[in-house]
Amino acid sequence: MNTPKNIAVIGATGAQGGGLVRAIQSDPSRAFKVRAITRNPASEQARALGVETVQANLDDVASLREAFDGVHGVFGVTAFWEHFSPERERAQAQAMATAAAAAGVEHFIWSTLEDTRRWLPVGSGYMPTLMHKYNVPHMDAKGEADEVFAASGVPTTALRTSFFWDNLIHFGMAPRRGADGGLVFSLPMGTKKLPGIAAVDIGHCALGVFKGGDAYIGKTVGIAGEHLTGDDMAAALSRALGEPVRYESIPFEVYRGLGFPGAEDLANMFQFKHDFESDFCGSRPIALSRQLHAGLQTFDQWLARHGSALPLG
Ligand SMILES: NC(=O)c1ccc[n+]([C@@H]2O[C@H](COP(=O)([O-])OP(=O)(O)OC[C@H]3O[C@@H](n4cnc5c(N)ncnc54)[C@H](OP(=O)(O)O)[C@@H]3O)[C@@H](O)[C@H]2O)c1
Repeated sequence: MNTPKNIAVIGATGAQGGGLVRAIQSDPSRAFKVRAITRNPASEQARALGVETVQANLDDVASLREAFDGVHGVFGVTAFWEHFSPERERAQAQAMATAAAAAGVEHFIWSTLEDTRRWLPVGSGYMPTLMHKYNVPHMDAKGEADEVFAASGVPTTALRTSFFWDNLIHFGMAPRRGADGGLVFSLPMGTKKLPGIAAVDIGHCALGVFKGGDAYIGKTVGIAGEHLTGDDMAAALSRALGEPVRYESIPFEVYRGLGFPGAEDLANMFQFKHDFESDFCGSRPIALSRQLHAGLQTFDQWLARHGSALPLG
């Protein structure tokens, strides 16, 4: 048997990276070994991983350079919702790319999204411009950083992720009781399909990309568990919860005004996904995602495991 190759996992204590840690640990081929990168190796979440942990910070390139020493691959993710700064996200991507180049990393998986400005120039009046130069700050900054990795010379796969179904548990997107007492699932997607995925499966697909190696280097790979309309999701929720759930499409304008941090960013995101449905779904083929991870969950399967955790309001 060959010696397992080290994979440094940024965000190992989080949703996507945590999925990759579990995927590598449960992989019978034992092709890889995890080095979990965290700001705080003493945290409960880091200790619970049961793998090698190394302290590093995305804001500190020297710490990343040290953390990447001797690794074959790196999974890199940024945490936009912690700081809401696209500039910081881009700087963190630059730090990862610089450190990976210096450490001679052979395969970097960059967890990214589209730079929507390639479809919609800023200032066209199509949607409100946010933070002076973005349509969808958390997407545009990631897409912009794809070029940072390309320019660094690090062999990279740009992994385009999808809407986490886990948002229904952690991001306030679960069905709520309407005035008539019935459950209502609201999303600003009209009748269009939303590519979604169990967040943990992003990590499993990333393992498939590391295993595929050269086949995916220099490529952009989009993944999703299913492409579902709001009605499809409401029907699955009804099945899982054992009571009817009605889908209600919220207008983008209304969503923008909901007032929670990031509401405008997310409203623009949904508008982009709605208006460019065929591009957005088309670049996230289910068949390829399943090829990367045979156990890819459907929304029904995810709900069977997590339905009871939905905070129904
Ligand atoms: N929610 C969605 O539907 C969705 C869809 C597509 C993409 N995304 C993107 O997913 C990203 C978040 O990924 P996630 O949900 O997997 O993460 P998460 O569960 O929110 O956890 C964040 C992770 O990032 C690490 N981290 C944060 N700041 C760090 C820093 N300065 N240095 C080192 N590590 C740092 C944390 O590690 P420690 O705390 O241990 O240091 C933690 O493991 C966001 O950028 C978001 O835009 C979300």
